[in-house]
Amino acid sequence: MKTILVTGGCGYIGSHTLVDLIQNGFEVISVDNHSRSTGELLDGVEAITGVRVKNYKADLCNMEAVKAIFSENKIDGIIHFAAYKSVDESVKEPLIYFQNNLTSLVNLLECTKLFDVPYFVFSSSCSVYGDVEKMPVTEDTVLTEPKSPYGRTKKIGEEIISDFAKTSATKFILLRYFNPVGAHPSGVIGEIPYGAPSNLVPVIMQCAIGAIPVLNVYGHEYNTRDGSCIRDFIHVCDIATAHTLALKKMFDSSVTDNYTIYNLGTGNGVTVLEAISAFEKVTGVKVNYQLTAPREGDVVAIYANNDKAKKDLAWEPVYNINDMMRTAWKWQGVLKGLVK
Ligand SMILES: NC(=O)c1ccc[n+]([C@@H]2O[C@H](COP(=O)([O-])OP(=O)(O)OC[C@H]3O[C@@H](n4cnc5c(N)ncnc54)[C@H](O)[C@@H]3O)[C@@H](O)[C@H]2O)c1
Repeated sequence: MKTILVTGGCGYIGSHTLVDLIQNGFEVISVDNHSRSTGELLDGVEAITGVRVKNYKADLCNMEAVKAIFSENKIDGIIHFAAYKSVDESVKEPLIYFQNNLTSLVNLLECTKLFDVPYFVFSSSCSVYGDVEKMPVTEDTVLTEPKSPYGRTKKIGEEIISDFAKTSATKFILLRYFNPVGAHPSGVIGEIPYGAPSNLVPVIMQCAIGAIPVLNVYGHEYNTRDGSCIRDFIHVCDIATAHTLALKKMFDSSVTDNYTIYNLGTGNGVTVLEAISAFEKVTGVKVNYQLTAPREGDVVAIYANNDKAKKDLAWEPVYNINDMMRTAWKWQGVLKGLVK
């Protein structure tokens, strides 16, 4: 049985991936300093799987602490989720983003060398594409200037891994997530917002429960189907599954590439107004929204070509936009009890 170190295992995507890994027979360990989370999602992971995951409450920027974890455990693979992820916060505090997201990555890469870790999966983001003209984007689409320091940490992170991979025996898969949303269908784990949410689905939830009076739809005269922005929403469980498949792909010794990138999106662009309407349809709850001016830094439309992940990883997203809204809403009911 292989042991996988999941960094950021107490966070949104990390916790869902722990579930998928456990259900696929992996041993898992988490390292998460709770800078953007609590331990609560691990209770949910246990409720779903029956397995209590051990979390090391350590800062990945602290190399001594990181080395201690590798000394104590024989780690066969790393899935590196831990990072700060708020675009708005990164604009205000760029240095903490560079410090946290890049130092943690460099420390982990150093550990792959020191402790002979053969497999590494990195959480990247469609934000590395910046403003792209031609849709859908493939992994070969030329990257433009990232729109935020957060996006830049992901782009630089990819470049660091690319340089390092040339010197390394470790295999690397980089997964560029589009817009992860929704929650585990059990309703037991989901996203716990840190600070005021700015992503569409958490904002829809906040508006639906009356925590915010009105949802601003930024931009309604773009050259899209209904004038609002287009995004590629992808269910968090589909994202989680892709990590398990990425590990399995790397175990195949006939695969010699040690640096491969995959887009993780459904391939279907959904407008902001269509997403709101899907939420209203599946829940019967009205969202009080208003059409407002475009927001600085927003990309008008972006959605993935996911052919490569489908072909190479045998990955097939199974959740549609209605499932995403339904599961997010179910989780919102649980969240009320968690967030005091
Ligand atoms: N959620 C999204 O919309 C999205 C989209 C694209 C890419 N990503 C990337 O996916 C990854 C996971 O995202 P998420 O939504 O699960 O985020 P999250 O904030 O829910 O989870 C990240 C976890 O990492 C931990 N962490 C952060 N810095 C750490 C450090 N130095 N040491 C130890 N732990 C640390 C936090 O406490 C948190 O629990 C991130 O790298 C993010 O940039 C997320």
